Amino acid sequence: MEKLCRCLLILLGLLSVQEKAKGTEENSARLGVSSQSSNYDGLVSSYAVDGLRDSYSHTNAQTDPWWRVDLLNVYKVNRVVITNKDSSYYYTRINGAVIRVGNVSQDFYSNPICAVISTIPSNTTETFYCDGMEGRYVHIHIPGDGKIMTVKEIEVYGFIAGNVALDGVATQSSTFEDWSADRGIDGDRGLLQQNTGCAETAPGNSNPWWRLDLRDVYHVIRVVITNGNDCCPERVNGAEIRIGNSLENNGNNNPLCAVIPGIPAGQSYTYPCGGMVGRYVNVFRPGTDKILTMCEVEVYVEDICKQRAAVKMRFSSKEDLTDSTIAENILQQLGSILAGRGFKDVIVQWSQPPQQDVIKVEEKRPCS
Ligand SMILES: *[C@@H]1O[C@H](CO)[C@@H](O)[C@H](O)[C@H]1NC(C)=O
Ligand SMILES: *[C@@H]1O[C@H](CO)[C@@H](O)[C@H](O)[C@H]1NC(C)=O
Repeated sequence: MEKLCRCLLILLGLLSVQEKAKGTEENSARLGVSSQSSNYDGLVSSYAVDGLRDSYSHTNAQTDPWWRVDLLNVYKVNRVVITNKDSSYYYTRINGAVIRVGNVSQDFYSNPICAVISTIPSNTTETFYCDGMEGRYVHIHIPGDGKIMTVKEIEVYGFIAGNVALDGVATQSSTFEDWSADRGIDGDRGLLQQNTGCAETAPGNSNPWWRLDLRDVYHVIRVVITNGNDCCPERVNGAEIRIGNSLENNGNNNPLCAVIPGIPAGQSYTYPCGGMVGRYVNVFRPGTDKILTMCEVEVYVEDICKQRAAVKMRFSSKEDLTDSTIAENILQQLGSILAGRGFKDVIVQWSQPPQQDVIKVEEKRPCS
């Protein structure tokens, strides 16, 4: 059987970390530390992040009052949700308030503006979209003299910035009920609600594992694992973090980054991996009759903006690829197949003009 072989070069650009709209973001304001410019009558800033929509924070009447939450990590902030006071006239105090997202804690006027609030009706909750603005602090301030900043609840939804796990695909050796592998990368560490957003393997199995396909090769700087905030924190004890490009033994034979002695319930532990190279991140828990539970796995990598992967392919076709229209069509088809598999920013091009290079390929027949 004769086939024509051609050479094709595919440049895989970086897989950009997109703002996710999974709707699983945690209210990171509740995990942060709040403060405000002054406290009126003991109505401190934390009343706006207590998860209750009846208590409220309240500053004194002053010039340019502000409220702030330090999210403790740089987040991609998708939205800020504010519940206003329930009062027929005090609700207007929020009018003109400015929401800023950025990294400056004190002189916050240099942080970019997410939204300016014209008004929010009494006892009403409104959402302001920040489109993935990155920052560690969210400030809300009201410009002017004799202003009072008072609000029932402020929620901040987003994802920790730079976590490439959110763009990956997760699988695991078995699944307990609906505790699927992808709950380990849903952006919800499960710190606010128990028994939600965790991945867990089914009981009664040996050597359970969880695997993340990053869909591109990265230099992994660190992996952060958050344990369940409920019973059985021992279900991660002895697990091994393995990183590499092989799928041998389901990826569990890849080089070892760290062994997890244990993680206390509801805590996030960081494992430095020193730039280990790989597309797969496995968590493998060896032993008989073991369960593996994790609520979130975050993966941080070296400056992804500088990473490019080039893949060179030899291409066989019975079509006449010296015909430029056919050659162009092939590139377009390949591009759309790659796009369909989630490869964004891909440049597909011929590295050299297709040639009538005829080689012999032996036809293999299946054994009957
Ligand atoms: C905050 O810091 C992060 C990284 O440290 C950066 O990507 C982001 O752009 C910064 N945000 C602003 C508003 O400067
Ligand atoms: C404010 O809204 C909450 C829930 O939407 C409701 O339970 C409460 O009674 C309202 N308060 C007033 C004063 O209207």
